[in-house]
Amino acid sequence: MAQSNFKSPARMGSLGDGATAAPAGSVPGSAGKGPGPKGADFERRSFLGMVVGGVGAAVAVSTLYPIVRFIVPPVTVVKEVNELVVGKASDVPLKGFKIYQFNKDKVLVVNDNGKLTACSAVCTHLGCLVRWESAQNLIFCPCHGAKYKQTGEIISGPQPKPLIAYKVRVEGEDLIVSKA
Ligand code: FES
Repeated sequence: MAQSNFKSPARMGSLGDGATAAPAGSVPGSAGKGPGPKGADFERRSFLGMVVGGVGAAVAVSTLYPIVRFIVPPVTVVKEVNELVVGKASDVPLKGFKIYQFNKDKVLVVNDNGKLTACSAVCTHLGCLVRWESAQNLIFCPCHGAKYKQTGEIISGPQPKPLIAYKVRVEGEDLIVSKA
């Protein structure tokens, strides 16, 4: 049978004085050791302090860096162009629309039964993205109900200005947006 490490009161009693009590006030495990060299102890502590400090700094940097990058977006320089191939003409569905990035603006290209028009997709009220409502034949902003004509002029709503107008044309398969 395997021997158990369990110390029953009977066994504890039989152990007798196998272990001697440490003197009061002494640190366990330090018995028999004399006072260590204080210089080496100090150097060890300062080295450990530097290691802990370095690890702490590395953890802080690796934690804060992504947060700072998230809060402060990178400065991206958008090169202004007068016209741009934004996609394929077939991408814009009949009686539908599609929104493309053009310079710093977003452009709404509407395909009204084959008649293509383009204007800014950013509502001049508070900047929501507008959409083409084919059934009502108008551009609509879902945020506060601004309504615009297909060419961007105001129909009704709280918006102060019409949508910026752009030109759009098709060359071969290419859909090209340009400044008006
Ligand atoms: S943001 Fe378009 S109506 Fe308010």
